[in-house]
Amino acid sequence: MTRTPTVLAVSGSLRDESYTRTALRYVLDAADERGAETTLLDLREYDLPVYDPDIEDQGDAAAATRLVREADAVALGTPVYHGSYSGALKNFHDYCGFDEYEDTTVGLLAAAGGGSYGSTLDHLRITVRGVHGWVLPHQVGLRNASSKFEADPDAIDGRRFRDPSLQERVEKLGRSLVEYAFIEPSVTSARSAPAED
Ligand SMILES: Cc1cc2nc3c(=O)[nH]c(=O)nc-3n(C[C@H](O)[C@H](O)[C@H](O)COP(=O)(O)O)c2cc1C
Repeated sequence: MTRTPTVLAVSGSLRDESYTRTALRYVLDAADERGAETTLLDLREYDLPVYDPDIEDQGDAAAATRLVREADAVALGTPVYHGSYSGALKNFHDYCGFDEYEDTTVGLLAAAGGGSYGSTLDHLRITVRGVHGWVLPHQVGLRNASSKFEADPDAIDGRRFRDPSLQERVEKLGRSLVEYAFIEPSVTSARSAPAED
């Protein structure tokens, strides 16, 4: 029997009413539906001083990085800040390295106040590659994020998506994280296998 995949979501927004966090909860809900064990890492709940390589054991860094290290798949969500990802997420990312991300499947999500999130997702993709995470091709951006939800007391976070196709893209991220949770880099793909004749 295969082991239950663990999926962690890290929210890069510290805002109480964050759309990023809500969207990540939808990601985790979809992953849970597919049989994953899910956890939300809310950076507001951890004491993470600005990363200083000269200081060992800063704040709650050990507990927070352990969650990443132990996850099979990680969803990174961020608000778009000045065309990139948030300082809160970058600071946490600086605590992480190969030990946390090697062989880890990663999905990306960004919530923009305006219309553009491409550079934010690109920056995240590059920086996760830098720590050897396996970033999924499927990624999600919410443009004009404040217009994407409406109040619904029965929905996740009391908010439901106005656009079912956007909800589907978000949920697909959760399903994909489960589907590709056990990336085996040592397996040679059929395409790269040497010909037999
Ligand atoms: C410091 C700062 C910089 C921002 N920069 C941008 C930006 O470059 N482009 C944009 O579309 N929205 C920008 N926004 C708006 C946020 O992306 C938007 O409010 C988003 O919904 C925040 O995500 P959250 O709801 O998860 O906190 C910025 C907001 C802040 C506070």
